[in-house]
Amino acid sequence: MKKLLSFFMIFAIAVTLAACGSGKDSGEQSATRENTEGAKQSSDTQEQVEENDEPSSEEPAGTEAKAIVVYFSATGNTRAVAETLAGLQGADLYEIVPEQPYTDEDLNYNNRSSRSTVEQNDPDARPAISGSIMDFEQYEVIYIGYPIWWGDMPRILYTFFDTYDFDGKIIAPFCTSGGSGLSGTPGTIAELESGATVIDGLHISSSSAGSAENSVSEWLETNGIEAKK
Ligand SMILES: Cc1cc2nc3c(=O)[nH]c(=O)nc-3n(C[C@H](O)[C@H](O)[C@H](O)COP(=O)(O)O)c2cc1C
Repeated sequence: MKKLLSFFMIFAIAVTLAACGSGKDSGEQSATRENTEGAKQSSDTQEQVEENDEPSSEEPAGTEAKAIVVYFSATGNTRAVAETLAGLQGADLYEIVPEQPYTDEDLNYNNRSSRSTVEQNDPDARPAISGSIMDFEQYEVIYIGYPIWWGDMPRILYTFFDTYDFDGKIIAPFCTSGGSGLSGTPGTIAELESGATVIDGLHISSSSAGSAENSVSEWLETNGIEAKK
Protein backbone atom coordinates (compact mmCIF):
# COMPACT_ATOMS: atom_id res chain seq x y z
CA MET A 1 0.00 0.00 0.00
CA LYS A 2 2.90 2.31 0.93
CA LYS A 3 4.50 1.46 -2.39
CA LEU A 4 1.26 2.24 -4.19
CA LEU A 5 0.99 5.63 -2.39
CA SER A 6 4.61 6.51 -3.23
CA PHE A 7 3.95 5.62 -6.83
CA PHE A 8 0.91 7.94 -6.91
CA MET A 9 2.91 10.74 -5.24
CA ILE A 10 5.76 10.41 -7.73
CA PHE A 11 3.21 10.30 -10.57
CA ALA A 12 1.45 13.46 -9.23
CA ILE A 13 4.78 15.36 -8.90
CA ALA A 14 5.74 14.33 -12.43
CA VAL A 15 2.37 15.54 -13.82
CA THR A 16 2.67 18.88 -11.92
CA LEU A 17 6.21 19.42 -13.23
CA ALA A 18 5.10 18.61 -16.76
CA ALA A 19 2.20 21.11 -16.47
CA CYS A 20 4.56 23.83 -15.21
CA GLY A 21 6.93 23.09 -18.04
CA SER A 22 4.26 23.30 -20.68
CA GLY A 23 3.01 26.64 -19.13
CA LYS A 24 6.50 28.16 -19.55
CA ASP A 25 6.65 26.78 -23.04
CA SER A 26 3.36 28.39 -24.00
CA GLY A 27 4.53 31.73 -22.53
CA GLU A 28 7.64 31.61 -24.66
CA GLN A 29 5.63 30.64 -27.67
CA SER A 30 3.24 33.50 -27.32
CA ALA A 31 6.11 35.92 -26.74
CA THR A 32 7.78 34.52 -29.81
CA ARG A 33 4.57 34.81 -31.79
CA GLU A 34 4.19 38.43 -30.69
CA ASN A 35 7.76 39.07 -31.72
CA THR A 36 7.17 37.36 -35.00
CA GLU A 37 4.03 39.36 -35.57
CA GLY A 38 5.95 42.49 -34.61
CA ALA A 39 8.65 41.53 -37.06
CA LYS A 40 6.06 40.85 -39.75
CA GLN A 41 4.36 44.17 -39.07
CA SER A 42 7.59 46.03 -39.39
CA SER A 43 8.42 44.11 -42.54
CA ASP A 44 4.94 45.00 -43.88
CA THR A 45 5.59 48.65 -42.99
CA GLN A 46 8.93 48.43 -44.72
CA GLU A 47 7.17 47.07 -47.80
CA GLN A 48 4.72 49.97 -47.61
CA VAL A 49 7.54 52.48 -47.33
CA GLU A 50 9.25 50.89 -50.28
CA GLU A 51 5.98 50.81 -52.21
CA ASN A 52 5.32 54.44 -51.34
CA ASP A 53 8.84 55.36 -52.38
CA GLU A 54 8.15 53.85 -55.78
CA PRO A 55 6.89 56.70 -58.00
CA SER A 56 3.50 55.77 -59.41
CA SER A 57 3.46 55.79 -63.18
CA GLU A 58 -0.20 56.86 -63.03
CA GLU A 59 0.67 60.09 -61.21
CA PRO A 60 0.55 63.14 -63.51
CA ALA A 61 4.06 64.38 -64.14
CA GLY A 62 5.10 67.34 -62.03
CA THR A 63 2.40 67.11 -59.36
CA GLU A 64 4.88 65.92 -56.74
CA ALA A 65 7.64 68.25 -57.93
CA LYS A 66 9.02 70.42 -55.17
CA ALA A 67 8.43 74.07 -55.99
CA ILE A 68 9.69 77.41 -54.76
CA VAL A 69 8.37 80.87 -55.49
CA VAL A 70 11.26 83.32 -55.76
CA TYR A 71 10.59 87.02 -56.20
CA PHE A 72 12.11 90.46 -56.18
CA SER A 73 9.84 93.37 -55.31
CA ALA A 74 10.89 96.95 -54.66
CA THR A 75 7.45 98.38 -53.86
CA GLY A 76 5.33 95.34 -52.89
CA ASN A 77 3.30 94.54 -56.04
CA THR A 78 5.24 91.46 -57.10
CA ARG A 79 5.41 90.33 -53.49
CA ALA A 80 1.59 90.25 -53.34
CA VAL A 81 1.41 88.02 -56.44
CA ALA A 82 4.23 85.80 -55.15
CA GLU A 83 2.41 85.26 -51.85
CA THR A 84 -0.82 84.41 -53.65
CA LEU A 85 1.00 81.91 -55.85
CA ALA A 86 2.92 80.31 -52.97
CA GLY A 87 -0.36 80.00 -51.05
CA LEU A 88 -2.10 78.31 -53.99
CA GLN A 89 0.77 75.90 -54.59
CA GLY A 90 1.87 75.28 -51.03
CA ALA A 91 5.31 76.20 -52.34
CA ASP A 92 8.26 77.62 -50.43
CA LEU A 93 8.72 81.38 -50.74
CA TYR A 94 12.01 83.23 -51.11
CA GLU A 95 12.56 86.96 -51.53
CA ILE A 96 15.56 88.24 -53.43
CA VAL A 97 16.81 90.90 -51.04
CA PRO A 98 19.38 93.37 -52.39
CA GLU A 99 22.48 93.76 -50.26
CA GLN A 100 21.94 97.49 -50.72
CA PRO A 101 18.20 98.22 -50.49
CA TYR A 102 16.63 100.46 -53.14
CA THR A 103 15.57 103.85 -51.84
CA ASP A 104 12.76 105.90 -53.40
CA GLU A 105 15.40 108.02 -55.09
CA ASP A 106 17.11 104.86 -56.44
CA LEU A 107 13.78 103.92 -58.05
CA ASN A 108 13.16 107.31 -59.65
CA TYR A 109 12.85 106.53 -63.35
CA ASN A 110 12.51 110.22 -64.19
CA ASN A 111 16.09 110.70 -63.07
CA ARG A 112 18.62 109.55 -65.69
CA SER A 113 21.29 109.16 -63.05
CA SER A 114 19.23 107.30 -60.44
CA ARG A 115 20.60 103.93 -59.37
CA SER A 116 17.90 101.89 -61.16
CA THR A 117 18.32 103.83 -64.42
CA VAL A 118 22.09 103.48 -64.31
CA GLU A 119 21.86 99.74 -63.58
CA GLN A 120 19.28 99.10 -66.30
CA ASN A 121 21.45 100.95 -68.81
CA ASP A 122 24.44 98.75 -67.95
CA PRO A 123 24.02 95.16 -69.24
CA ASP A 124 26.87 94.04 -66.97
CA ALA A 125 25.45 95.47 -63.75
CA ARG A 126 24.94 92.69 -61.17
CA PRO A 127 23.64 94.16 -57.89
CA ALA A 128 24.55 91.89 -54.98
CA ILE A 129 21.96 89.69 -53.29
CA SER A 130 21.87 89.31 -49.52
CA GLY A 131 21.60 85.67 -48.39
CA SER A 132 20.93 82.57 -50.45
CA ILE A 133 18.53 79.67 -50.98
CA MET A 134 19.36 76.54 -49.01
CA ASP A 135 19.41 73.27 -50.97
CA PHE A 136 18.38 74.86 -54.23
CA GLU A 137 18.95 71.45 -55.91
CA GLN A 138 15.83 70.05 -54.21
CA TYR A 139 13.50 72.27 -56.27
CA GLU A 140 12.24 71.11 -59.62
CA VAL A 141 9.92 74.02 -60.36
CA ILE A 142 11.08 77.59 -59.82
CA TYR A 143 8.44 80.30 -60.05
CA ILE A 144 10.26 83.57 -60.48
CA GLY A 145 8.60 86.96 -60.08
CA TYR A 146 9.90 90.47 -60.77
CA PRO A 147 8.72 93.95 -61.72
CA ILE A 148 9.42 95.25 -65.22
CA TRP A 149 12.03 97.98 -65.19
CA TRP A 150 12.64 99.80 -68.43
CA GLY A 151 11.16 96.93 -70.43
CA ASP A 152 13.36 94.29 -68.80
CA MET A 153 13.97 92.37 -65.57
CA PRO A 154 15.76 94.39 -62.88
CA ARG A 155 19.49 93.64 -63.08
CA ILE A 156 19.39 91.86 -59.72
CA LEU A 157 17.45 89.08 -61.49
CA TYR A 158 20.50 88.59 -63.71
CA THR A 159 22.57 88.21 -60.54
CA PHE A 160 20.09 85.57 -59.40
CA PHE A 161 20.28 83.63 -62.67
CA ASP A 162 24.10 83.82 -62.55
CA THR A 163 24.11 82.40 -59.01
CA TYR A 164 22.16 79.12 -59.34
CA ASP A 165 22.23 76.11 -61.62
CA PHE A 166 18.89 75.74 -63.41
CA ASP A 167 19.78 72.80 -65.65
CA GLY A 168 16.86 70.37 -65.84
CA LYS A 169 14.54 72.65 -63.91
CA ILE A 170 11.21 74.17 -64.91
CA ILE A 171 11.12 77.96 -64.69
CA ALA A 172 7.74 79.68 -64.50
CA PRO A 173 8.17 83.49 -64.83
CA PHE A 174 5.66 86.06 -63.67
CA CYS A 175 5.89 89.83 -63.50
CA THR A 176 4.05 92.99 -62.55
CA SER A 177 4.30 96.29 -64.37
CA GLY A 178 2.51 99.53 -65.14
CA GLY A 179 1.46 98.34 -68.58
CA SER A 180 4.42 96.93 -70.47
CA GLY A 181 3.50 93.25 -70.16
CA LEU A 182 6.15 90.53 -69.98
CA SER A 183 8.34 92.51 -72.40
CA GLY A 184 10.03 89.37 -73.76
CA THR A 185 11.51 88.49 -70.37
CA PRO A 186 10.65 84.74 -70.55
CA GLY A 187 12.70 84.63 -73.77
CA THR A 188 15.57 86.39 -72.02
CA ILE A 189 15.40 83.84 -69.19
CA ALA A 190 15.39 80.96 -71.71
CA GLU A 191 18.55 82.42 -73.26
CA LEU A 192 20.22 82.78 -69.87
CA GLU A 193 19.19 79.27 -68.77
CA SER A 194 19.33 77.13 -71.88
CA GLY A 195 19.35 73.90 -69.82
CA ALA A 196 15.98 74.72 -68.24
CA THR A 197 12.42 74.60 -69.55
CA VAL A 198 10.80 78.03 -69.39
CA ILE A 199 7.01 77.95 -69.48
CA ASP A 200 4.73 80.78 -70.66
CA GLY A 201 4.94 83.74 -68.32
CA LEU A 202 2.21 85.54 -66.41
CA HIS A 203 1.80 89.31 -66.42
CA ILE A 204 -0.24 91.08 -63.76
CA SER A 205 -0.74 94.83 -63.89
CA SER A 206 0.43 96.74 -60.81
CA SER A 207 -3.12 97.78 -59.98
CA SER A 208 -4.34 94.14 -59.87
CA ALA A 209 -1.42 92.70 -57.90
CA GLY A 210 -3.44 92.47 -54.70
CA SER A 211 -6.27 90.51 -56.31
CA ALA A 212 -4.48 88.18 -58.69
CA GLU A 213 -5.76 84.82 -57.43
CA ASN A 214 -8.01 84.07 -60.43
CA SER A 215 -5.38 85.08 -62.98
CA VAL A 216 -2.75 83.00 -61.19
CA SER A 217 -5.04 79.95 -61.03
CA GLU A 218 -5.89 80.27 -64.74
CA TRP A 219 -2.20 80.54 -65.60
CA LEU A 220 -1.40 77.41 -63.60
CA GLU A 221 -4.26 75.56 -65.28
CA THR A 222 -3.26 76.69 -68.78
CA ASN A 223 0.24 75.37 -68.16
CA GLY A 224 -1.04 72.06 -66.83
CA ILE A 225 0.12 72.79 -63.29
CA GLU A 226 -2.35 71.58 -60.71
CA ALA A 227 -3.22 74.17 -58.05
CA LYS A 228 -2.63 72.30 -54.78
CA LYS A 229 -4.80 74.34 -52.41
C1 LIG B 1 12.88 101.93 -62.20
C2 LIG B 1 11.52 101.53 -62.66
C3 LIG B 1 11.31 101.28 -64.01
C4 LIG B 1 10.04 100.88 -64.43
N1 LIG B 1 9.84 100.59 -65.75
C5 LIG B 1 8.62 100.17 -66.18
C6 LIG B 1 8.40 99.83 -67.54
O1 LIG B 1 9.30 99.85 -68.37
N2 LIG B 1 7.15 99.44 -67.91
C7 LIG B 1 6.11 99.39 -67.02
O2 LIG B 1 5.00 99.03 -67.42
N3 LIG B 1 6.31 99.68 -65.71
C8 LIG B 1 7.52 100.05 -65.26
N4 LIG B 1 7.73 100.33 -63.95
C9 LIG B 1 6.62 100.11 -62.99
C10 LIG B 1 6.79 98.77 -62.27
O3 LIG B 1 7.03 97.71 -63.16
C11 LIG B 1 5.54 98.42 -61.47
O4 LIG B 1 5.21 99.46 -60.61
C12 LIG B 1 5.72 97.13 -60.71
O5 LIG B 1 4.46 96.63 -60.34
C13 LIG B 1 6.56 97.33 -59.46
O6 LIG B 1 6.67 96.08 -58.82
P1 LIG B 1 7.17 95.95 -57.31
O7 LIG B 1 6.18 96.72 -56.44
O8 LIG B 1 7.10 94.50 -57.02
O9 LIG B 1 8.51 96.52 -57.24
C14 LIG B 1 8.97 100.73 -63.50
C15 LIG B 1 9.22 101.01 -62.15
C16 LIG B 1 10.48 101.40 -61.74
C17 LIG B 1 10.72 101.65 -60.29
